Amino acid sequence: MKNILDLPTPSFLVDLDKLESNIKEMAEMCKKNGKQLWPMVKTHKSTFIAEIQQNHGAKGFLVGTIDEAEKLVEKGFKEIMVAYPVASKENIERIIKLAKNSHIILSFDGIEAATKVEEACEKVDTYFDYLIIIDSGLHRFGVAPEKAIELAEKLKKLTYLKLKGIATHPGHAYSKTNIEEIKKVAREEIESLTKAATLLKKEGYPVEIVATGSTPTASFVVGDKIIDILRPGNYVFYDAIQVALGVTTLEKCALTVLATVISHPKEDLFIINVGSKGLGLDKGAHGSSLIQSYGIVKGHPELIIESLSEEVGKVKVTGNTDIKVSGKIEIIPNHACSTANMTSYLIGHRNGIIEKVIPVDAREGTQNPLALL
Ligand SMILES: Cc1ncc(COP(=O)(O)O)c(C=O)c1O
Repeated sequence: MKNILDLPTPSFLVDLDKLESNIKEMAEMCKKNGKQLWPMVKTHKSTFIAEIQQNHGAKGFLVGTIDEAEKLVEKGFKEIMVAYPVASKENIERIIKLAKNSHIILSFDGIEAATKVEEACEKVDTYFDYLIIIDSGLHRFGVAPEKAIELAEKLKKLTYLKLKGIATHPGHAYSKTNIEEIKKVAREEIESLTKAATLLKKEGYPVEIVATGSTPTASFVVGDKIIDILRPGNYVFYDAIQVALGVTTLEKCALTVLATVISHPKEDLFIINVGSKGLGLDKGAHGSSLIQSYGIVKGHPELIIESLSEEVGKVKVTGNTDIKVSGKIEIIPNHACSTANMTSYLIGHRNGIIEKVIPVDAREGTQNPLALL
């Protein structure tokens, strides 16, 4: 039985006990509140982890990319929502192909992409359900709640697209600095969805699905009656950003990067053999002023990762330490979703004993693009 400390570095580790407990906790919270859980797979991009989520009651999955959708369908998953509009001819064709073996729900926030999908669907007589994306404050995709009717009216003339409901992602929660501010985002999330759903229903539009999701706000919105489906992603791993926001504790962070100290050029400086191509330069997808370094060194608060080159990092030694050159350290990344995307294999372990190699099999760049044509 191999220990994680026997691994070459850098290696990407997943504490399976923590992973399973995080998955179980979210699933139970959704179940207790009568909500369906459709986790966003972009966090782990792994069909093995998706299967654990399904075994704990996930009814479907939310994907950020067509690659993720293709991998899930290949492995037999049947219920998939696509988070963002699909607009290019080639990707629309890929999605139409997937609809033969699975139920795909699309998302739109405008008529242009929807019309492209409609035209392609007409040729092959394929129908899709879709959700209208509501902007609840992130100001990325979506229409303002009061504009949902306007868009629904435009989309109504499309024959091959059937309105199922609405969806949002309150990603602006990540720019906040404490739980009170996150609760305010959660209130905006609920208010936006309630407004859009009420207006649409009043005009006779079907709103069978009201979907939302973000790890920071999940526990504050799950009890609201407007919501049918929760779609969080990051909660499987958590990370230093979630800890800084006060959403979780360091003990629940399941993903770490194992690195070696390879040089000690100055009294207060170590160099480690992982850099931005392992940990990522991410300090928060939507900007977090709480994050000052590039990950947390587990069990070593005296070590601060102050900068990263591509393959190496500078670690400031701020106090007494027993770490020496050739010693290994485990780093909790700032943003686990970005870090998990840096490797093809995660190493699953329990208390340091290696149990399972988990392929990151739904990652982009693993398929030959020409083979998709
Ligand atoms: C549309 C959408 N829904 C849900 C999520 C999941 O959010 P989180 O990772 O905070 O759980 C994301 C994250 O990017 C998203 O873009």
